[in-house]
Amino acid sequence: MSSENVSVGIHDLTFRTTSLQLTHAELARHTGVPLAKYHRGIGQQAMSIPAPDEDVITMAAHAAAAVVERHGPDRIRTLLFATETSIDQAKAGGLYVHSLLGLPPHIRVVELKQACYGATAALQFATALVHRDPDQQVLVLASDIARYDLDSPGEATQGAAAAALLVTARPALLEIDTPSGLFAREVMDFWRPNYRTAALVDGRSSVDAYLRALTGAWSDYRARGGTPLRNIHTMCYHQPFTRMAHKAHHHLLQQAGLPVDPEHIAAVLAPTTTYNQVLGNSYTASLSIALAALLDSATPLDGETVGLFSYGSGSVAEFLTATVRPGYRDHLRTDAHRAAVTDRRPISYADYRDLHASTLPTDGSRHATAGLTSGPYRLAGIHDHRRVYEATDPVGRSVSGAAPDGWPVP
Ligand code: CAA
Repeated sequence: MSSENVSVGIHDLTFRTTSLQLTHAELARHTGVPLAKYHRGIGQQAMSIPAPDEDVITMAAHAAAAVVERHGPDRIRTLLFATETSIDQAKAGGLYVHSLLGLPPHIRVVELKQACYGATAALQFATALVHRDPDQQVLVLASDIARYDLDSPGEATQGAAAAALLVTARPALLEIDTPSGLFAREVMDFWRPNYRTAALVDGRSSVDAYLRALTGAWSDYRARGGTPLRNIHTMCYHQPFTRMAHKAHHHLLQQAGLPVDPEHIAAVLAPTTTYNQVLGNSYTASLSIALAALLDSATPLDGETVGLFSYGSGSVAEFLTATVRPGYRDHLRTDAHRAAVTDRRPISYADYRDLHASTLPTDGSRHATAGLTSGPYRLAGIHDHRRVYEATDPVGRSVSGAAPDGWPVP
């Protein structure tokens, strides 16, 4: 196939999350915060909480398995794993997924990091690779667990999920358009030093940094001949909490010199927030999940231009658009997405705090996790500084992390 004028974009898109959830109603009962602050002030109803045997690998493998099952692995030449809650300082998390899914050996597997922006970089790199060789496909995985300290302002904006995107020539869902707008600025709004399991954040300054980056990326996008805002059907924003999308759209309308009406903003963004308002923040996966919610909504989008704004603290941002392919609805995974959200078991505030406090050993000691996940892959434990994963299907085999002889997989 010639790479001349071939359209490239997202051929398949799906997400998975954890088996547990904490509702903000349960959180409010114990924190004394008015529930309206959670529901209206930040726009969140619930957040996904990982079970002890779930992590960014198990969620990503679950999402990726659906994509590989539908399309086969043979044309995948690259697997890009975007995360800011990586399990290893050296090894790419995608290699565990590669092993769990039994993918072929002739694949380049790399992990990318730049806070919540990493998956958008992966999408653009994937698009370039497929333009160079339209016969190959790129599997982009975005997987994160948003974790803040207990009793901190960020606590109510935790969450977890993984998205899987298959980037191909002649995509079924969306073509990625050019140009895009970029913006980078070093700022300490949100970060996580290597020795911490919970992120540090300056909440107010992170909101300001997000909006400043939106201005920067949007002005670059327009200067490069990007589509006027009035011609963009719907905007999908990175949603650390869904009210952030409202603030962003308000800001963008002002930047574009268009009328600002909060009720109209709420109506146009509603189809993009249905999943994230109950999943919570999933960092790198959040924007893809906002897009999945829009595609799964009742709004007809055939041939329409959709805007995407990606923000990664620290900070890098990108504004781009995608054109929805006619007939896209035939390729959606709406039932699986709704099941991922509704199948989660609600947990009590006490159980949530116990889970938050229990972290994996950091001294390499042997540790077996409790078997709580309802997903097809689980973190069985740790042995000799290695994570041991297993498939939970009836013929479940222990893979990745090379379980040593005598290691009892629970
Ligand atoms: N009823 C209705 N609304 C209420 C209310 C009530 N009873 N009480 C308060 N509110 C409203 C407030 O008016 C406020 O609304 P506005 O922002 O529109 O003014 C909103 O609820 C939040 O109230 P506060 O500002 O008092 O909230 P807070 O101090 O608890 O902090 C937060 C909110 C900064 C988002 C905090 O949760 C946080 O630090 N979260 C993590 C950081 C984050 O998500 N930053 C986003 C940008 S960075 C990014 O996007 C990258 C990323 O993924 C992290």
